[in-house]
Amino acid sequence: MSAFVINGGRRLNGNLRVQGSKNSVLPILAATLLINGKCVIHNCPALSDTECTVKILKSLGCKVQRDGTSICVDSTSATGFEIPGSLMREMRSSVVFLGAILGRMGKATISAPGGCEIGLRPIDLHLYAVKRLGVDIEESYGKLVCTVPNGLKGTKITFSFPSVGATENALLACVTAKGNTTIVNCAREPEIIDLCDFLNSCGAKITGAGESIISVEGVKELHGCEHSVICDRIAATTYLVAGAVTGGDVEIHNTVPIHLNSILPLLEESGCDVRVRCKSIRLKAPGRLKRIDKIITQPYPGFPTDAQAPFTTLTSIASGTSVIVENIFESRLKHVPELVRMGAKIRAEGRVAVVEGVERLYGAEVISPDLRGGAALVVAGLCASGTTVVKNTNFIDRGYEDFENNLCMLNADIYRKVKTDGTKEKKKL
Ligand code: UD1
Repeated sequence: MSAFVINGGRRLNGNLRVQGSKNSVLPILAATLLINGKCVIHNCPALSDTECTVKILKSLGCKVQRDGTSICVDSTSATGFEIPGSLMREMRSSVVFLGAILGRMGKATISAPGGCEIGLRPIDLHLYAVKRLGVDIEESYGKLVCTVPNGLKGTKITFSFPSVGATENALLACVTAKGNTTIVNCAREPEIIDLCDFLNSCGAKITGAGESIISVEGVKELHGCEHSVICDRIAATTYLVAGAVTGGDVEIHNTVPIHLNSILPLLEESGCDVRVRCKSIRLKAPGRLKRIDKIITQPYPGFPTDAQAPFTTLTSIASGTSVIVENIFESRLKHVPELVRMGAKIRAEGRVAVVEGVERLYGAEVISPDLRGGAALVVAGLCASGTTVVKNTNFIDRGYEDFENNLCMLNADIYRKVKTDGTKEKKKL
């Protein structure tokens, strides 16, 4: 198990090109299974979750090759319909294969997905969507055995909550179904638009992506295409926050600034000078950050739950008191006790945290509780005085490509201690 060691207090400055989106690449790679041919996906981030997705594709019989940031998937010979339990457990996104396997094979067997423990994370909405399309589901020895006795048929799917994953599963299961499907109260995230753009490039007929109602005219089959995934708005946010808390001056390139429309105003509210130019965002931090009145997480286009943890770090060293309300997941404040170990003054109860900003944080040994919580602790270490050790880097590696080297490029002093038993340390520059 490795850890990040951070010597805090250095002002971040410089330029960084942000990685491709984790939350886009995973469903798009799953979607390649629907295509009886070859797809080339560009701008794929090198993440443990991307590797896990590739393993699932291979386990189903696809041929997959990586060339730099491009992944070529040939699904012609795919025949598998069951995802091995060990791969299901590795990440939450394994569940988006359900719609793709059903669309391609007409049957699927899955078990409960894993992923970060940030709440109950049920899959009832995913199952509701595929059932509406004609899927029968039986539970057998902990597995969900899904069959489609009369073929997938277009229908109306109305979600009680705009779940990102369930919307993706509904789309994957219905693009090649017979007839038309309408998905009501669907998720509107940019990653949903990216998935629909990919599917439409393969011959799907989807309209309304990015809105609350998506219409799909089922097509007989899809063909291969080349597609480049959008940039990662959460990674971009994390680097901007890292610049903000260290009093820095950073410019993030290769972004889609409108995807950060709910985030940039809050960075400005904290006193940062934020300038958008084409695909770049430059942030210059003030001497002392100001409080942010309220941070309330909501489905897109609201403030993203994935950015809540880095903003908890930001508000913990701002002047004044900020309030954070986590509306999406039940247990997504697990970074709070770790920040308190570093000197933050935060009172958290249920989904609400009241953050009373302190002058500074102090280096400590902390444990990454989940992906974004772990990134928030690294960001805290960057502005803390002294040395911070963030354990459980495996969570962070799920979502941040080359995290420590990117931060080093921005002048941070951070390295990965490869083994925490002290046998070997590796300082990366
Ligand atoms: C995706 C993102 C994740 C982000 C989240 C919310 C990926 C790989 N992950 O996760 O980074 O934090 O969207 O923006 O894209 N829910 C149910 N039943 C279901 C499905 C979801 O009750 O069947 C609930 C969840 O428990 C949660 C809420 O709906 O409380 C949102 O979940 P959802 O939008 O599905 O998130 P994910 O797709 O898991």
